[in-house]
Amino acid sequence: MNTIYFEALTPENIARAADIIRAGGLLGIPTETVYGLGANALDEKAVLHIFEAKGRPQDNPLIIHVPDASWLERYCESVPEAAYRLAERFWPGPLTMILPRKPIVPLRTTGGLETVGVRCPDHPVTLAVIRKADVPIAAPSGNTSGRPSPTCMEDMREDMDGKIDAIFDGGPCRVGVESTIIDLTCTPPRLLRPGGLPLEMLEDVLGEVAVDKAVVSLLKDGEKPKAPGMKYRHYAPKAPVTVFTGDPEKSARYIEAHLPASAGVICFSEFTGLYPGHIVHDLGSFTDKAEQARRVFDALREFDHEAVTEIYAQCPDASGLGLAIGNRLKKAAGFHIVEV
Ligand code: TXA
Ligand code: MG
Repeated sequence: MNTIYFEALTPENIARAADIIRAGGLLGIPTETVYGLGANALDEKAVLHIFEAKGRPQDNPLIIHVPDASWLERYCESVPEAAYRLAERFWPGPLTMILPRKPIVPLRTTGGLETVGVRCPDHPVTLAVIRKADVPIAAPSGNTSGRPSPTCMEDMREDMDGKIDAIFDGGPCRVGVESTIIDLTCTPPRLLRPGGLPLEMLEDVLGEVAVDKAVVSLLKDGEKPKAPGMKYRHYAPKAPVTVFTGDPEKSARYIEAHLPASAGVICFSEFTGLYPGHIVHDLGSFTDKAEQARRVFDALREFDHEAVTEIYAQCPDASGLGLAIGNRLKKAAGFHIVEV
């Protein structure tokens, strides 16, 4: 298949991209979090092609993307008042809400679940394509299953060129980690995946929020996470990763003292000079979590082109965006963590 590349946000390109969606095709879409691999969420055959192109297990549900909160009742049964409060405050933005699905949303899309994840992305291209197509777009992150999520058009091309109909270039992703997922079908609401919207901001609107075990630890055999995708080794570069938590200065020195000769490093900007002779990727300053979020997948992805036998990574503390950044690093490491 010859993949088409759309570059400029013009009415003509939006119309062509919307036609691809309406015809059951696959479209790489930019969002503020990561690029997605999109198709008409209501078209079972199109959705099946998403699973095939990604190599994604069929039981791992897709989230659907809508242009505003007024579409919630088209696809969700009994939308609670809390959903509208969250949408009012955080949409468009990096928040996915899990709600009961209406039968119009195929089980193929929801991985067989009676619930559906809904998100309104904050990107003019994708919002325009959804409105023009007048159907919700189902989209997982646009990576091949198991690889780090794509945060620019080039990443998307690397994984999907020749496998999908088109990719729309919307520039580099502003947030860099995927959306936060909150399950509103239980009491208290439950955080299933930390992401671009910090937990503290959800608590500000919802009060108490439970945190799913899969967010902070490796599940034991037989344990099932509520977001099926959280059970897969994920975001992972080819070389094994070890994550070092604790005070940044201390963990940087610890890595310096223990780093094997052929290992690469992901560290905060302040410490890049400590590892001469090693391949080092700069995660951004330890004072700037927004920058760390933008860089984390790139740092992991880059190592696939480099000869390292393993990767040592510094990790921010869990406040604010640190919970999501740390979660992505720890998942890449299979929760192989050293507390310094
Ligand atoms: O930022 C994002 O959320 C990106 C962009 C493209 O919007 N999308 C994304 O999709 O990250 P994906 O498929 O890579 O991750 C969605 C996660 C998966 O772990 C999946 O298991 C979970 O959401 N999920 C989807 N529907 C669910 C449901 N009904 N109940 C529980 N978990 C669900
Ligand atoms: Mg994904």
